[in-house]
Amino acid sequence: MKEVKLETVLSVYDDLSELPQDIKQLMDAAIKARDNAYAPYSKFKVGAAILLDNLEIVIGSNQENASYPSGLCAERTAIYYAGAKYPNAKILKMALTASSQNQVTDSPIPPCGACRQTISEYEIKQEKPIEIYFMGATGKVVKSNSLANLLPLGFDRSFL
Ligand code: THU
Repeated sequence: MKEVKLETVLSVYDDLSELPQDIKQLMDAAIKARDNAYAPYSKFKVGAAILLDNLEIVIGSNQENASYPSGLCAERTAIYYAGAKYPNAKILKMALTASSQNQVTDSPIPPCGACRQTISEYEIKQEKPIEIYFMGATGKVVKSNSLANLLPLGFDRSFL
């Protein structure tokens, strides 16, 4: 038996003002998108903004449903729309923000496991890392250089 150590390296920005200008713009688009979340059940609003290599920005927000599993996260709403509208474009960067009506959301909120798996599919498909930036409503912003970095031991097409 031997132990295997998996390492994740992240960058942490103190707040929005520390971000490079283009990322700040992308995060601003995610913050705006967050307002359009339909989250009457969880009261937890999430916004996502995706920068494509054709320079389009595609946004998404979580959309809930009285039949809970029928709802969809912000990240997947955005990435599926990007895939549907611009099937040949590569995803360069994603910015994510979340805000809860039940508590102060001042620490970075990472994408859920299902969204990581979904983003991973596109990262593998396009053979180019996707930069991910995530934050709460305020406070620190975390950057990951790729989705793979956020999903160790991911399941992918090579197993099929
Ligand atoms: N949610 C997202 O939109 N993205 C995530 O990565 C985590 C969770 C949404 C789903 C649901 O509408 C609400 O947040 C509470 O889970």
